[in-house]
Amino acid sequence: MATKKAEAPKGKLGVLVVGLGAVSSTFMAGVLAARKGLAKPIGSMTQYDKIRVGEGEDKKYLHYKDIVPLAELDDIVFGAWDVYPANAFESAVNAEVLKAKDILPIKEELEAIKPMKAAFDKNYAKRLDGDNVKECKDRWDMTEQIREDIRNFKKETGVDRVVVLWAASTEVYVPVDEKVHGSLEALEAAMKADDKEHIAPSMCYAYAALSEGAPFIMGAPNTTVDIPAMWELAEKTKMPIAGKDFKTGQTLVKSGFAPIIGTRCLGLSGWFSTNILGNRDGLVLDEPANFRTKEVSKLSTLESILVPEDQPDLYGHGNDEDTQYYHKVRINYYPPRNDNKEGWDNIDIFGWMGYPMQIKINFLCRDSILAAPLCLDLVLLSDLAQRAGRYGIQRFLSFFLKSPMHDYTKNEVPVNHLFQQYVMLKNAIREMGGYEADETID
Ligand SMILES: NC(=O)c1ccc[n+]([C@@H]2O[C@H](COP(=O)([O-])OP(=O)(O)OC[C@H]3O[C@@H](n4cnc5c(N)ncnc54)[C@H](O)[C@@H]3O)[C@@H](O)[C@H]2O)c1
Repeated sequence: MATKKAEAPKGKLGVLVVGLGAVSSTFMAGVLAARKGLAKPIGSMTQYDKIRVGEGEDKKYLHYKDIVPLAELDDIVFGAWDVYPANAFESAVNAEVLKAKDILPIKEELEAIKPMKAAFDKNYAKRLDGDNVKECKDRWDMTEQIREDIRNFKKETGVDRVVVLWAASTEVYVPVDEKVHGSLEALEAAMKADDKEHIAPSMCYAYAALSEGAPFIMGAPNTTVDIPAMWELAEKTKMPIAGKDFKTGQTLVKSGFAPIIGTRCLGLSGWFSTNILGNRDGLVLDEPANFRTKEVSKLSTLESILVPEDQPDLYGHGNDEDTQYYHKVRINYYPPRNDNKEGWDNIDIFGWMGYPMQIKINFLCRDSILAAPLCLDLVLLSDLAQRAGRYGIQRFLSFFLKSPMHDYTKNEVPVNHLFQQYVMLKNAIREMGGYEADETID
C-alpha cells in the first residue's frame, strides 16, 4: 500500500449521505453550525486531536490539519438519499436530537438538503414505509441510477470530489456467500440477474460510489463492503473503503475498557450488555433479522481483545459451553428515551485464586451526538486517504468502527483494542503528512 504524502485538496468536497435520519441530520447541522461559529465540533478527532510528529529535537504536537491537508468544513457540500422525502431541516426536527435554538439559525441551509430518491427494498428494512423510492428494473439498474445521481450531484454543485457515507438504517443480515460475493465478476452477474437475496441495496450504493471515484464508508453493521468482490472493485478503481458500524457508545466503552482486564491479566466469565433506545434506528433494530446484523457486529469487539485460545485460564471459563466467557448483547426498543440511549454493562470478572468480582457501567449517552463527529472524521479522513493514493480497506479507520474491516480470507484478525487502533490512526496521519510512522510512546 502506498504511503505517499497526501496531495492538497482542490475545490469543494461533496458529502453524499445515504439516509437522512437522526445521525445524518445531526452531523449536517453540526457542520453547518460550526461553520457559522454557532457550535463547536466536540468529539471530532480531526478538529481537536493533537499528535506527535518527529522525534527528539524535532518533536512537535500538532493538530491533524497542521500535519495533513484536510478539507475544511467550509468546503463541504452535502447531499443525501432517503426513503422519506423530508429535507434535512424536517428530519432534524423529527429526530428530536437537537434543540430548536440550535437548528433554527441554519434552517435555510438544512432545508436546501433534499433527499434524492432512495435505492430501497422493503425486504431489507420491513419497518420503513416511505415513498421517496426509485423504481428499479433490477439491482444493476438500481446501481446505474445511483451512479447517475452521483454524477448529477457533481455537475449541479460543482464539487471536485465526493465521499459517500452510509448512515441509513441497518439492513437485514446478509451472510457472505462465496459464490456471489467472492469476486467482482460474480457480484456483477448477480446484480444483472437481479439476485435480491444476496445483493442488498447498500451494495448498489457502494458499487456506484466506488465506480464513480468516490470513497465509500459503511456506518451501519451491514455486510455491504465486507466482501472480496468490493475489495476487488476498490482495488480496481483505487478507492478507499471503510466499515463497518460507527463505534459510538457501548462498544467504544467496551473497546476501551476490555484492555484494562486484558492488560492486568484478570479473568472474565461474562459480559452482559443491554441497551434501551427509542429512535427510528431502535425501531428498525427491534426487527430480529435487522438486530442480527447489529448483534454480529457488537459481539465481535470483545472476542479479539480477550481471546480465550490465547489465555484459557483467564477467558476460557464461562457458561458458553465452557469454552469462553459468556457474552450477550441486547437492544430493546423503548420509545420514551428517543435518541438518548441508555446502555448497561454488567461485567463478571475474577481475580487471584479465581475470586469473583463485578463491574457495572451505566452509560446515559446520546446516540447521534456521539455518531456525528465520527461521520465527520470518517469523511474527511477517507477523502484524505484518497488524495494520498491509499485504496482498498482503510485499516487505520478501525478506531472509529465497531467491526473493523479485515481480510478474513487471509485469516487476518481485526484490531479492536482502542489503543492499538489509535496507534494505527496516528501512524497513518504521520505517513500521509510525510513523516515516519513510529511506535514511540508519547
Ligand atoms: N447513532 C449511533 O450511535 C450509531 C452507531 C452505530 C451505527 N449507527 C447506525 O447508523 C444508522 C443511522 O442511524 P440513525 O439513528 O440516523 O437512524 P434513522 O432511522 O434516524 O435514519 C436512517 C435513515 O435511513 C433511511 N434509509 C433506510 N434505508 C435506506 C436506503 N436504502 N436508502 C436511503 N435511505 C435509507 C431511513 O428512511 C431513515 O431516515 C443506523 O444503521 C444505525 O444502526 C448509529
